[in-house]
Amino acid sequence: MTEPRSDTPLLFTPIQLRGIAARNRIVSSPMCQYASDDGAPEDWQLVNFGRFAMGGCGIVFTEETAVDARGRKTHECAGIYHDHHVPAYRRITDFLKSLGAVPAIQLGHCGRRASQHGPLKDRAPLTEADANGKLRPWQGLSASALPPTPGGNIPKAMDLDDIRECLEAWRRAAQRAVDAGYELCEIHGAHGYLIHQFLSPLSNLRTDGYGGNLQGRMRFALEVAETVRAVWPADRPLWFRVSAVEGPGGVWGIEETLALSKELKARGIDAIDCSSGGVGGDGKLPPVPRVPGFQAGYSSEIRSATGLPTVAVGMIREPQHAEDLLQQGHADFIALARGLMDNPNWPLHAARELGVSDPLALVHPREAQRLRQLEHHARDYPPGSAIDIPYGTEERGVYSWEEGIARRG
Ligand SMILES: Cc1cc2nc3c(=O)[nH]c(=O)nc-3n(C[C@H](O)[C@H](O)[C@H](O)COP(=O)(O)O)c2cc1C
Repeated sequence: MTEPRSDTPLLFTPIQLRGIAARNRIVSSPMCQYASDDGAPEDWQLVNFGRFAMGGCGIVFTEETAVDARGRKTHECAGIYHDHHVPAYRRITDFLKSLGAVPAIQLGHCGRRASQHGPLKDRAPLTEADANGKLRPWQGLSASALPPTPGGNIPKAMDLDDIRECLEAWRRAAQRAVDAGYELCEIHGAHGYLIHQFLSPLSNLRTDGYGGNLQGRMRFALEVAETVRAVWPADRPLWFRVSAVEGPGGVWGIEETLALSKELKARGIDAIDCSSGGVGGDGKLPPVPRVPGFQAGYSSEIRSATGLPTVAVGMIREPQHAEDLLQQGHADFIALARGLMDNPNWPLHAARELGVSDPLALVHPREAQRLRQLEHHARDYPPGSAIDIPYGTEERGVYSWEEGIARRG
């Protein structure tokens, strides 16, 4: 732990996002839970996302939330496709706000990756055999009738009515997200889901205005952005997650992402969340090695080419690394997923490590009060000092710092 310093690290400097203020630049990245009941979140989500707000994150995303029931990967995926979902999400957003975090939703549609088992069953496609166990398969939608992986379920190639209906589902879902109290919305355009399926020439073989050249393949993504921006309030930020480069064997790379990001900026997107992967094929892209900050270079490029704020994400675990990425202008926000699962109090620990003057101000006063006691105890009894522990009115034990125990006599 370094000495407290008067200048606040950038990671802990509050930031204004349109009309919304975040207490710091740490983002709890969207994380699917596969724990919803017909799209609706349960206690699991309240606790799971609540712990990241309690730990001090400035912005807490819930999970990818499907705009349409068909746009879920599994029966257990989250959705916001019924009005009755709104109060279930409101319970979570109220809780996150009460803990000082900005509640954020990631809206998505998985397209051809629909009708699967979850990750615990290796995302195997649902079959008629699963229907007997009540997990009925359904047909996904996509830009073209190509399976997500060889032998996977074939989606329906969306016709123009499907596209219109889908955009309407995005509009209604965004409106419900407003009603549910979310203050930040992100459009999931990455990871090989529907929007990405339209973007990539590997998954989009269309010959109409939604396919062909880059402009045509970007059209659906841009129409989603326009549709959501039209209902998402002007005082609330709207982000977009990209796969800056797609998966192994892919072809979509950073140049395409820069072109997309510039178009998104023109449509009122406020920040680009820089991820990667999803669609693959027989293109030349190699896999991206999972090293600390493996996607931060994409964030840096997008930020300087577009002038848009960006989110760096991916194996960022060290507080100083997070701070350096911000200080050096590679990103405006740092998102963590697994690092927060491992240590939900990561922001508190990072604040201590970076020398924030009052790290405990990050957590709820109920917690801070007890944790301050812990710090006082450590200051009151410096290691090595002579300590007696009472065993009765007349008896004392001598405390051994080496052993961490006191013994009588
Ligand atoms: C349990 C889990 C669920 C995830 N679900 C989503 C999701 O819903 N949407 C999304 O865009 N990314 C999702 N991701 C990816 C994360 O948001 C993040 O980009 C990725 O894990 C890299 O960050 P990390 O190295 O800090 O974990 C998920 C990751 C995990 C670990």
